[in-house]
Amino acid sequence: MSKKTMPENSEPGTGTETGFCTEPGLEDLGAMRRLLERTGVFSAEEVDVAESLIRERLERGIASEYHFLLDRRNAVLAGFICYGPIGCAPGRWDIYWVAVDPDFHGQGLGKALLHAGEQAIRAKGGERAYVETSSLDRYTPARALYRCCGYTVDAFQRDFYAMGDHKVTLVKILDGSTGTSSAPISNAPTSNTSEPDVSGPDICGPGISGPNAFGPGPNIP
Ligand SMILES: CC(C)(COP(=O)(O)OP(=O)(O)OC[C@H]1O[C@@H](n2cnc3c(N)ncnc32)[C@H](O)[C@@H]1OP(=O)(O)O)[C@@H](O)C(=O)NCCC(=O)NCCS
Repeated sequence: MSKKTMPENSEPGTGTETGFCTEPGLEDLGAMRRLLERTGVFSAEEVDVAESLIRERLERGIASEYHFLLDRRNAVLAGFICYGPIGCAPGRWDIYWVAVDPDFHGQGLGKALLHAGEQAIRAKGGERAYVETSSLDRYTPARALYRCCGYTVDAFQRDFYAMGDHKVTLVKILDGSTGTSSAPISNAPTSNTSEPDVSGPDICGPGISGPNAFGPGPNIP
């Protein structure tokens, strides 16, 4: 199957220059729930959380600070991304959700949504985009997506979600620079012997969930 980078059949007149729709509608509540359930990745509680974001957006509009890009193919929601600014951290944005319906996996839609989200964040003055994900195997495609789009691991919290289910935070500097602080944050791999090697080539591979995937673990009091 050939790769595509832009959605086809997006609703006319509702998109931005990216071609994605920026205005969620009531119909997206159910469509998003269906999509997330169909991925088989998220718990019922996580699906409820996702639904609460879109509900808040529908109720409060852009004041909710939840921004969406949606790829609708006729009546079907093929994929979406949701992002917003991080409070009290100028220029820092969170990408809360990115998900693609299994019928559209492997066609470049996840990459296109992420890319369009980054462009939109930059256009609003964003400098860094953060994503949080889990170390579990079922999130391997997500980690691979982030990695292939230039995200690097910035933080690792062992057993954060549950025992053996670690939280991995990745960052991408959107202005293309390597950052200005002396802290080892950049889109290039870093090395720090007191912390786990979370920047190596295998970080996003299936081995991430293995018990020793991150070495002895961070030295956190
Ligand atoms: C993660 C997800 C959004 C990827 O969407 P997608 O449209 O299938 O991804 P793309 O086709 O754009 O793939 C982009 C890159 O991601 C990586 N990737 C995607 N699926 C992958 C898989 N199953 N295994 C390994 N790498 C994968 C590849 O590097 C791919 O680039 P390539 O095709 O040039 O090798 C999709 O799998 C999904 O919705 N998963 C469930 C939801 C989820 O986990 N969201 C993230 C929550 S933290």
